[in-house]
Amino acid sequence: MPLTSFSAAFQNPAGSPIRELFPYLSQPGIISFAGGYPSSSLFDSLGLRHACESAIATPFNCLQYGATEGLPVLREALVELMAARGIATGINDILVTTGSQQAFDLIVKVFLNQGDMVYVETPAYPAAIQGLRLAGARMTQIPVDCDGVDVVRLAEILSQANETDLPKFIYTVPTFSNPSGTTLSSQRRSTLVGLALQYGFMIVEDDPYGELSFTEERLLPLFSIGASTSKSENPVVYLSSLSKTVAPGLRVGWMVAPPDVLRRCTIAKQTSDLCTSPISQQIAVEYLLSGRYFPCILRAKIEYKLRMSTMASALHKQLGDDLKFSEPKGGMFMWASITNGCDAKALFKHAVTANVLFVPGAAFYPENPDEMTLRFSFAAPDSEQIKEGVNRLSTAFKKLFI
Ligand SMILES: Cc1ncc(COP(=O)(O)O)c(C=O)c1O
Repeated sequence: MPLTSFSAAFQNPAGSPIRELFPYLSQPGIISFAGGYPSSSLFDSLGLRHACESAIATPFNCLQYGATEGLPVLREALVELMAARGIATGINDILVTTGSQQAFDLIVKVFLNQGDMVYVETPAYPAAIQGLRLAGARMTQIPVDCDGVDVVRLAEILSQANETDLPKFIYTVPTFSNPSGTTLSSQRRSTLVGLALQYGFMIVEDDPYGELSFTEERLLPLFSIGASTSKSENPVVYLSSLSKTVAPGLRVGWMVAPPDVLRRCTIAKQTSDLCTSPISQQIAVEYLLSGRYFPCILRAKIEYKLRMSTMASALHKQLGDDLKFSEPKGGMFMWASITNGCDAKALFKHAVTANVLFVPGAAFYPENPDEMTLRFSFAAPDSEQIKEGVNRLSTAFKKLFI
């Protein structure tokens, strides 16, 4: 097929840098700190089996097509879930999506023209970068430090931007970010919403990890801050998912947004998949209403906190002189910088030989990557595997200097 047969965006598209690591996962005995997978051992299989049985037995025919907006019963259940997170909504404020990845894709379709500017917290979730790249967006990197997006830098960049360099939106994962593990402080949350209102851009708040907190601290979602400033002109669109809390195989996510955004995203979704699988949605409702959701999250939080602490102490003990990192307060990821002058891609080659995987940080930058950085996920391997994985990593580090 001649290249020109493909659309401009797909003539030479780059695949997901993380999915490109998948072949290594089949290496026998590999320990992976690479993927963003929740732990399969924490899936509530019994609860989900009951939910599947109830879903199939429901008088509503969930083997039939459903409304593009999502099943009303699921949207009602999500209203309750949102209230528990501090977000006041009604069912008409919610669009059910096929994973939160689709919600982001719909936002990209509905808001962006080729060449539009988007600000991206950096390091950033690679599938967001990929989606923006394919849409032909221009991206400005907004650095993240230990308190999340650097709002002082953001304010500076905004104040220097001319009209065409102002963003349509900023993309951020403000709570237990993928990949940085950081959480945007309370003060920065207000500042970020204030800047969005002042300069007239939107905030895409991607929140798949917010419930996986290791502490009692609860920060208001950006969406709630935006709603309290001006309910009708809330600049925040909120995305979330059951992927990290129940099971990614359900492919159930959602978007909370003002009616004019939701209506357009619903139309965009009509041509994307008509509707999110009604059977998946019904399973999700049965599960959410079964009373097992919060106990299941509690179990996951305890286990992930243990895995994170195990990883942090093993890294401190064995690689304290070679790596700098901070412990996240929730979620699934730890971000690290190599301090001995080596780059993460070189380390990765030795890590593969030592049978352990991580993601070199370059995958998380739209451009000018910091090659000394890397992401570890502590969610999928258990504590024993984590200790062994860090041993192997230490072997890989030693090989760098031979
Ligand atoms: C920040 C972030 N957003 C969105 C997603 C996509 O999640 P979903 O499975 O809901 O599509 C992920 C998955 O890893 C993620 O880390």
